[in-house]
Amino acid sequence: MDQNELKKAAGIRSVDFIKDGMTVGLGTGSTVYFMVEELGRRVKEEGLNVQCVTTSDRTWDQAVGLGIKMLDVNAVNDIDLTIDGADEIDDNYQGIKGGGAAHLKEKIVALNSKQVIWIVDQSKIVNTLGKFPLPTEVIPFGSQKTFDVLEREGLNPKFRKDDNGELVRTDSNNFVIDLYLEKVEHPHLLANYLDSITGVVEHGLFLDMVNTVIIGNEDAPKVIENVR
Ligand code: A5P
Repeated sequence: MDQNELKKAAGIRSVDFIKDGMTVGLGTGSTVYFMVEELGRRVKEEGLNVQCVTTSDRTWDQAVGLGIKMLDVNAVNDIDLTIDGADEIDDNYQGIKGGGAAHLKEKIVALNSKQVIWIVDQSKIVNTLGKFPLPTEVIPFGSQKTFDVLEREGLNPKFRKDDNGELVRTDSNNFVIDLYLEKVEHPHLLANYLDSITGVVEHGLFLDMVNTVIIGNEDAPKVIENVR
């Protein structure tokens, strides 16, 4: 199976956790894409009755196109379950997210969800976080100053650019600065530090946030429940 098939298998498996009447948070990314396609199929073919909130404009557009009922996150009381991807998951089920620049909305939705499932292929499972550059989202005003603060701290920052060399803008019109760390030995300490920097709107360390991890494997997807 290639990586896409593993992502697809994990995405499809995760939809088994969505029950009639739920309010569901839909994540962002290439793995979530398959989950949303399967959810759309079940809504259409099986009449599964759910309402959903999104973590990005991309996912919103995909879900609306499939006829999934979408609501603004402010319009729902509780989010029963959020299913999202991840860029890295370590031995303690801590994660890095934001490879698709959606981590700000993803974190807001995750923090307001009763249950969170991450769907990944095996390549995302690591012993220690940090090989994947840690995304931050920064407001454009003074962003070079924010960059300088991160650089002085030795966090090896780099503004994220698109294929045309333009600075990437998030859905909230902010910039992304990725931190090339190689190893995050103390994720909570780093998260606290990044939380304290004025100008950093959010970072991609998702700590103590996931309940269930579904990993696409060569045979059936592996489901690890109750990780916290
Ligand atoms: C979006 O910003 C990210 O947090 C994604 O959830 C993450 O990058 C996983 O994406 P893929 O499923 O495309 O690898």
